[in-house]
Amino acid sequence: MTNNNAVRKEKSLLTSMAAIPISLLFLLLVSLFHTAEAQQKYSNITLGSFLTPTSATNSSWPSPSGLFAFGFYQRDNGYYVGVFLAGIPEKTVVWTANRDDPPVPSNATLAFTDGRLVLQQLSGQNTTIADLPQSASAASMLDSGNFVLYNSDQEIIWQSFDHPTDTIVPDQRLTAGKELFSGASETDPPTGIFRLKMQHDGNLVQYPVETPDTAPYAYWASGTAGDNVSLNLDDDGHLYLLNNTGANIDNLTEGESTREVKIYRMKIDVDGIFRVYSRTLDQTGNWSTKWQSTGDKCEPKGLCGVNAFCVQMDTEADCRCLPGFEFVNHRKWASGCQRNFVADRCNNTNGVVKFTMSPLENTVWEDTSYFVLELSTKEDCEEDCLQDCNCEAVLFKEGQCKKQKLPLRYGRRLQTDSQVAFIKMGNMTGPSTKALPFDPPKKEVRVDILIISVSLVGFAFMLLAISGVLIYRNRVWTYRKIVGKGNVEFDEDVALRSFTFAELEQVTNGFNQELGRGAFGTVYKGVIPYNQN
Ligand SMILES: *[C@@H]1O[C@H](CO)[C@@H](O)[C@H](O)[C@H]1NC(C)=O
Ligand SMILES: *[C@@H]1O[C@H](CO)[C@@H](O)[C@H](O)[C@H]1NC(C)=O
Ligand SMILES: *[C@@H]1O[C@H](CO)[C@@H](O)[C@H](O)[C@H]1NC(C)=O
Ligand SMILES: *[C@@H]1O[C@H](CO)[C@@H](O)[C@H](O)[C@H]1NC(C)=O
Ligand SMILES: *[C@@H]1O[C@H](CO)[C@@H](O)[C@H](O)[C@H]1NC(C)=O
Ligand SMILES: *[C@@H]1O[C@H](CO)[C@@H](O)[C@H](O)[C@H]1NC(C)=O
Ligand SMILES: *[C@@H]1O[C@H](CO)[C@@H](O)[C@H](O)[C@H]1NC(C)=O
Ligand SMILES: *[C@@H]1O[C@H](CO)[C@@H](O)[C@H](O)[C@H]1NC(C)=O
Ligand SMILES: *[C@@H]1O[C@H](CO)[C@@H](O)[C@H](O)[C@H]1NC(C)=O
Ligand SMILES: *[C@@H]1O[C@H](CO)[C@@H](O)[C@H](O)[C@H]1NC(C)=O
Repeated sequence: MTNNNAVRKEKSLLTSMAAIPISLLFLLLVSLFHTAEAQQKYSNITLGSFLTPTSATNSSWPSPSGLFAFGFYQRDNGYYVGVFLAGIPEKTVVWTANRDDPPVPSNATLAFTDGRLVLQQLSGQNTTIADLPQSASAASMLDSGNFVLYNSDQEIIWQSFDHPTDTIVPDQRLTAGKELFSGASETDPPTGIFRLKMQHDGNLVQYPVETPDTAPYAYWASGTAGDNVSLNLDDDGHLYLLNNTGANIDNLTEGESTREVKIYRMKIDVDGIFRVYSRTLDQTGNWSTKWQSTGDKCEPKGLCGVNAFCVQMDTEADCRCLPGFEFVNHRKWASGCQRNFVADRCNNTNGVVKFTMSPLENTVWEDTSYFVLELSTKEDCEEDCLQDCNCEAVLFKEGQCKKQKLPLRYGRRLQTDSQVAFIKMGNMTGPSTKALPFDPPKKEVRVDILIISVSLVGFAFMLLAISGVLIYRNRVWTYRKIVGKGNVEFDEDVALRSFTFAELEQVTNGFNQELGRGAFGTVYKGVIPYNQN
């Protein structure tokens, strides 16, 4: 079915070349990519062709116009193989092969030999770029952005359009059962934490990864129904759903009529929102957002991970931990938050630890109640949780007291919701001194007692202890300020790090926020022995 599409697509590309916008585009491309034009064209890539990441001419195979290319593209940690927009300075990536494999070093080779397309590494690891049902005898990078492999009868046996990653480009369709996955970060290709699925029931739905395709996990849906519904993007930016009979059943965006030559792409972004972007083809142009599935960055479920909740600050999302919790990884909100106190245990090994209920107003959560009580006041609800050693949090709304166990998921603050959550918190200054958050991290100290005398060892330890305390105090202070904002980059060894002005600015913000968050905002992750949820 899809092979026919691609064949049809190729034909339609040829026949529509007379159409004014396309010919304009070609004219523009010819002038823009004069150098590419002068080189050999790779519209028919033959067996025996190779690509290497750093070769001046053979690191990718361009499409006839030079707009797209298939081949190596660089990231901080090495090279990936994929399809990108070679005709613009940003070299925007629209597809990546084996995105979850580690990137390869510059001495890797992509070989189109023996009817296969194989990424070879000097270490001996060879990975296939495409799982082929039969031997390939030619390949082609089409001007549509589709990279295709042909058998000896010139039939398409594999095409990148059938294996989308996070993006679709015009004329690529997301057919029933297929899904797009967001990337790990703005620049890192590996699979991230959100997906957009074209369901067999005709509904186009967004979910976090690794959840069932059921309503409680959905955070956006087209609400459409039908058999074999597909998501389509046209070369004027029109994004819409077609049903089995080819009827348009939903318009997500309208097409643009513009005199400029523009390219469009639709992408599920790292933040879980999917957007249609457009860009003029001039070198100084930039991508602008034409449409997005939502303007509320807190909507994508799971952005903040477990035991955290999302707060929309102006147009940005901010993740915060439950009271008494801290981020597992400050660089990665999705890792969620962990307990910073001794948990309530039914076998009562905590002795004298006191618990209190800490309120969070106007928040909503995934409801995984293990017990629901009809209680008239929230005070009764709090008290019930305190008396129940299994209870870790309660959600109270309109006389219903819903008892929860951790982890709490998909939390977010709403302006209007009357629900209040209460989190059971242990007394942080309780008897368990090892729970204190300011223990220095334990470092192994190896001393060769054959060489150094016992007294020297003692002296060394004394010095170490003194300087350790001084350095540590210094570090904790810096660290506490640095970690305020979830997405600030930092090195584990803060003492060795120098900070740019921008970072320092963020530090001040982070610190303010921390104060706003209450007593248990953020502390050093390495020294908290209690997490487990
Ligand atoms: C592509 O190359 C193959 C092998 O050299 C050749 O048989 C085929 O005709 C070529 N196709 C086109 C469209 O040039
Ligand atoms: C690039 O590939 C072509 C065709 O395979 C070959 O003729 C040419 O020598 C290669 N150029 C370099 C610099 O490797
Ligand atoms: C290939 O590159 C990697 C990373 O740069 C390097 O570790 C490895 O030694 C290289 N292999 C050879 C055989 O040069
Ligand atoms: C990888 O491919 C190269 C070149 O085809 C071949 O010499 C090598 O044996 C292959 N290595 C493995 C482990 O298959
Ligand atoms: C959906 O499309 C597939 C492939 O074209 C076809 O086999 C199937 O019969 C279609 N389903 C319906 C209900 O039309
Ligand atoms: C496709 O959509 C049209 C318009 O909504 C509707 O009339 C038609 O019955 C649908 N076809 C199928 C097979 O669902
Ligand atoms: C979508 O827009 C097209 C025109 O761009 C129109 O013909 C079609 O009826 C619209 N579909 C729906 C479901 O509104
Ligand atoms: C590109 O974007 C920046 C900021 O988003 C804007 O200032 C600039 O004017 C844009 N350039 C073009 C050519 O649109
Ligand atoms: C008490 O229960 C917790 C789990 O609820 C368990 O990890 C712990 O080992 C238990 N302690 C004793 C002394 O049984
Ligand atoms: C912890 O317990 C002590 C003694 O019971 C009490 O004075 C203190 O206020 C409690 N702190 C919190 C945060 O509940």
